[in-house]
Amino acid sequence: MPEFADIGQIRKSVTGCTRCDLCKTRTNAVPGKGSENAKIIFVGEAPGRSEDARGEPFVGPAGRILDEALSSAGISRDSVYITNTTKCRPPSNRVPTVQERAACSDYLQAEIRIIAPEIVCIMGNTAYASILGGTNITRNRGKVTVHDGVKYFPTVHPAAVIYNGALRDVLGDDIKTLAGMVGA
Ligand code: URA
Repeated sequence: MPEFADIGQIRKSVTGCTRCDLCKTRTNAVPGKGSENAKIIFVGEAPGRSEDARGEPFVGPAGRILDEALSSAGISRDSVYITNTTKCRPPSNRVPTVQERAACSDYLQAEIRIIAPEIVCIMGNTAYASILGGTNITRNRGKVTVHDGVKYFPTVHPAAVIYNGALRDVLGDDIKTLAGMVGA
């Protein structure tokens, strides 16, 4: 029997999670958020400062870039589900370790199993490596992969746009492609 029967159970478990040391430094754990009927799940790396303060994913600068890409593609944020590979903020926003990601991975697997979206959009190298063992998101973005019966679409991380403005159109175009794939 799977450990989690619904999103509420995952949320409750994430909120009180002590599986790794990130629980000692977080303000709030950050469970996934959005529609349980979502056709698309977006997966980022880990919460940053704003997310840790609010307990919600993608509500800081990277979230504003994601919101802009969603709205340009005609996707409402409420219609999708947004989550991370790691549900607690790593100190100083360092990349979560392989062990931290592994401690958290069954939350993400359960989110995908329960929501059963048409496609999972992987954002950035950390999520790409964690979920599909992939590298070089810049080269491999936009390539759909099916793994264990789940369709994945990798794209660049919204935060990468902050450092490289040329990626704004790449992200925007990828999200429009995704919208077309699910008829959003
Ligand atoms: N970056 C992420 O990967 N996830 C968030 O929730 C916010 C910023």
